[in-house]
Amino acid sequence: MTTAPTFQTKLTELTGVDHPIVQTGMGWVAGPRLVSATANAGALGILASATMTLDELEKAIVEVKGRADKPFGVNLRADASDAPDRCRLLIDHGVKVASFALAPKPELIATLKEHDIVVMPSIGAAKHAKKVASWGADMVMIQGGEGGGHTGAVPTTLLLPSVLDAVDIPVVAAGGFFDGRGLAAAMAYGAAGIGMGTRFLLTADSAVPEDVRRRYLEFGLDGTVVTTKADGMPHRLLRTEFIDTLEKEGVTAKLARTIKRTRQFKEMSGLPWRTLVKDGRSMVHGGDRTWAEVVLAANTPMLLRAGLVEGDTSAGMLSSGQVVGLLDDLPTCEELVDRIIAGAVDRLKHLDATHT
Ligand SMILES: Cc1cc2nc3c(=O)[nH]c(=O)nc-3n(C[C@H](O)[C@H](O)[C@H](O)COP(=O)(O)O)c2cc1C
Repeated sequence: MTTAPTFQTKLTELTGVDHPIVQTGMGWVAGPRLVSATANAGALGILASATMTLDELEKAIVEVKGRADKPFGVNLRADASDAPDRCRLLIDHGVKVASFALAPKPELIATLKEHDIVVMPSIGAAKHAKKVASWGADMVMIQGGEGGGHTGAVPTTLLLPSVLDAVDIPVVAAGGFFDGRGLAAAMAYGAAGIGMGTRFLLTADSAVPEDVRRRYLEFGLDGTVVTTKADGMPHRLLRTEFIDTLEKEGVTAKLARTIKRTRQFKEMSGLPWRTLVKDGRSMVHGGDRTWAEVVLAANTPMLLRAGLVEGDTSAGMLSSGQVVGLLDDLPTCEELVDRIIAGAVDRLKHLDATHT
């Protein structure tokens, strides 16, 4: 049985979910099954769309709606050339939340808000939170350095208060959360809730092959590494033999692999070279990335797919937060959400302090 709504925060108010818990967008991982299981457990599930074509995204949205009559969200790459088309899908299908990996343009935020969609960009610094807040974002999600996937250097315990001090909009805390103590602590800081990636990846409702999920559970707190070798950006992954090799590999071997994977990604995504080049060009012009880094970045989706979908841990990348070292089971989303809420209630009741 799912737990009755217990904590009302700005996150539950804005999105209409029962509990201030978010299952974050994770490429190749956060598909319809995980998102609908999260929604049915009363939390906010977010579909990851960066690894889906437009058609696949529409099918996934329809599937979630068929499995759960609850609010949910979609995670988008704000820099993708078809971001406006993807936002149109969200509008047409009444998706409740748009989550962005990078800051969306003010016009896009305005369009989504006109249609009552809650806009929640993920950010890694207070100055970015200020910028998106001034552009009209409804909420931000921070991801501390301990989090899985692309990540920054500042830990949640420092990033969270710095962002809470910088903006007036609600802040959801992600990076390192897994239990009721974390939810209680985040709310005590002033956060509107917690977001979790690795913890939801490691549930019974996750579509990641079970032997891969079991492999994750073997890793300890020192079992992850942040590397820029995969795609030129800091990426937290399980420290597997494959990653050790990638870190040591020479430029030539890496480039050969990159070109092969880029071609595979092109075939899978169905995107014409024109679009890939256009997206690449906007990445080069939009930031400090060189063409070499952009080509390298095209490598990542296929390497992640090999690990997370095909279960090939010897030739794939497995994004993971440091929190993996504290996990030893694969609960259902419902069990997970229920125990986090019960754990937070218990912690708040038994705070180890006396005051007058
Ligand atoms: C396997 C995996 C894939 C991820 N893919 C994405 C993604 O596609 N878009 C995104 O904004 N964040 C992505 N992230 C980051 C998560 O959304 C989330 O911010 C992070 O996992 C939080 O830290 P935690 O792992 O400690 O819970 C990914 C994380 C993991 C573990």
